[in-house]
Amino acid sequence: MNRSVSLLLVLLFAGCGADPIDDNTDDPAFDYPSLKALAPYGVGVAFKSELIPFVDHRENVVYTFDQLTAEWEMKMNPMSVGPNQYDWDGADALVAFATANGMKVHGHALLWHSTVPAWLENFAGTDTQFEDAVRTYITTVVQRYKDSVVSWDVVNEAFEDNSGALRNSVFRRRMGPDYIAKVFAFAHDADPDALLLYNDYGLTWDAAKRSAAFQMVDDLQSRGVPIHGVGLQMHITYSFPAMSDIVSTMNEIVQRDLQVHISELDIRINPDGDLSAPTSAREAAQRVRTRQVIEAFNALPSDKRFAVTVWGVRHSESWLIDFWGNPEWPLLFDDNFVPGPAHNGFVDAL
Ligand code: XIL
Repeated sequence: MNRSVSLLLVLLFAGCGADPIDDNTDDPAFDYPSLKALAPYGVGVAFKSELIPFVDHRENVVYTFDQLTAEWEMKMNPMSVGPNQYDWDGADALVAFATANGMKVHGHALLWHSTVPAWLENFAGTDTQFEDAVRTYITTVVQRYKDSVVSWDVVNEAFEDNSGALRNSVFRRRMGPDYIAKVFAFAHDADPDALLLYNDYGLTWDAAKRSAAFQMVDDLQSRGVPIHGVGLQMHITYSFPAMSDIVSTMNEIVQRDLQVHISELDIRINPDGDLSAPTSAREAAQRVRTRQVIEAFNALPSDKRFAVTVWGVRHSESWLIDFWGNPEWPLLFDDNFVPGPAHNGFVDAL
């Protein structure tokens, strides 16, 4: 290959983020500990392909984390643009970036009532054809990424708040209340090696939802449906919920011989909207809270600890800003990639 062709290829790969980058473990600018180097389990981050071109983001992510989750681009809405029509651009770019840098990829999420594309939500065919379309989608996606995606959130947020009723999503309406068992089986058939998880929020503080979710898990297990773990999203605040609820929910997972994933960690310090800047008291509380959550995770049997995934890199990029309308300073890094109290609390626990 002549030199200009090789240079062109290098530039092309650099452009799509598939080139491995130095993880900076010996760079003096990274004068704080690398979480992935300290933790005896996966340390993940939610990431977006639009951030790959930015060198500070790339270096931060590769230095700190060894696992990556697509914050948006591996959900059904962005990937499934029509019957048998897919847009792989974002997902492919994230998977290429992760694998080039030795990071595992956790798939999120095959089925989520909040990201159903219009063509499927308003599906014109019969229920059998609907189920076939869901099976085809899961099979196509899981098989496409089977060499790089080690684990999947198969179903996300299936239960209502407070009542624990099964959400009346299009999946339930068209496939029946046993749709969860069906889609776990589809995912397992597509990649028998993938670790399959159920993922939700509120299991730690909402007793009705917790008992509905674990009843579903028990039912799957009693019928031999492959489920290997439960993801606790862990969108929490500096003061809520009680650590005892977090610990007992993790123990419920372990008692079922399943792996625990802290899957979307962020810790709000402004849940009442009373701060326009972080205070040292709230920051101190966030540090303690992060330490306690990670210590609780550390205390689980090592073969039951899947990973801890943080839901974004810098405070200003957190989804919570749009969702709650307040600045929350909930993540590990400020806008200059300086590690903050949550990062310090994580390190304290390791
Ligand atoms: C959020 C992302 O952070 C946003 O960027 C996106 O627009 C919507 O989804 N629970 C989940 C995540 O399981 O997928 C959500 O992520 C946050 C709540």
